[in-house]
Amino acid sequence: MQNRFIDCINQLPKPLVDELIPLLGDEFSGHITAKQLSRLIKASQLDEQALLLALLPVAAAFSSPGISQFFVGAIAKASSGDIYMGANLELPGEALFHSVHAEQSAISHAWLCGETRILDIVVNFSPCGHCRQFINELVDGSHIKIHLPGQESAPLSHYLPYAFGPKDLNVTEPLLSKNDIEFAIESNDPLIIEALNQTGLSYAPYTACHAAVVLETYDGATFSGRYAENAAFNPSMQPMQMALSNLIRHNKSYSDIKRAVLVESSKGQISLVGAAMDALHSVAAIELEHIVVEPSL
Ligand code: THU
Ligand code: ZN
Repeated sequence: MQNRFIDCINQLPKPLVDELIPLLGDEFSGHITAKQLSRLIKASQLDEQALLLALLPVAAAFSSPGISQFFVGAIAKASSGDIYMGANLELPGEALFHSVHAEQSAISHAWLCGETRILDIVVNFSPCGHCRQFINELVDGSHIKIHLPGQESAPLSHYLPYAFGPKDLNVTEPLLSKNDIEFAIESNDPLIIEALNQTGLSYAPYTACHAAVVLETYDGATFSGRYAENAAFNPSMQPMQMALSNLIRHNKSYSDIKRAVLVESSKGQISLVGAAMDALHSVAAIELEHIVVEPSL
């Protein structure tokens, strides 16, 4: 199989390409550390913002837009200095609301890697209303800077004036806040334990339906997705979508999926099992293992 970044680096300046090539192996999943970033800045002689804009075609190479053929790439820069790429994902044959936007993919990438604050979001098309609302759920969301090709950088509050957000529903610990709830289960199945741990890190202030999905591939690798709710409800990111987007970023195919586990809290007002099954079954004919857990007191 041809390396998926071959085409997207064609247009980039040669000194940048030379420094990038060693990073862009088949296993590259869109995470560039602060140290690697400063090496890219030095080699390319671009300032950080110009470099991040130049890297957007690399982020867009993670896109899987089977319906629209519209390739969106996004990069989230976290307070650690690391950057996280993401791209849109469309599920074949399923309702459009199952889609993952590039901004959501990049933000969830940073969150799954333990980041607690995002400072900048760089994206190759203007963020849609749904993404503006999704970004507004994050810690200090209104101050996150949005960078677009050919546009002045501006904070989210410029793109989403008169915003509705978590505070309107009395939620004071927004998405990305460090928050770990303990859940208990009697199992020594590593996949289930991983899903249980991810469930504790999920964000469900509106329904208490803490939940996570972990997918295992035939080579033994695992890919998790946590549930991330939104004050406006509909832009919430489902754990199956987050896990599938994670898997695709890691250069796996849907046919590599061997097991899929959804863990959710018994205390939620809703269940994500129907939504998770619909999403999973659009790409893999395997059973969804569904486990309900109790918060440990
Ligand atoms: N899309 C994004 O990824 N981000 C945006 O904010 C604009 C739209 C994606 C969603 C869908 O996969 C395709 O672009 C067409 O809307
Ligand atoms: Zn969007």
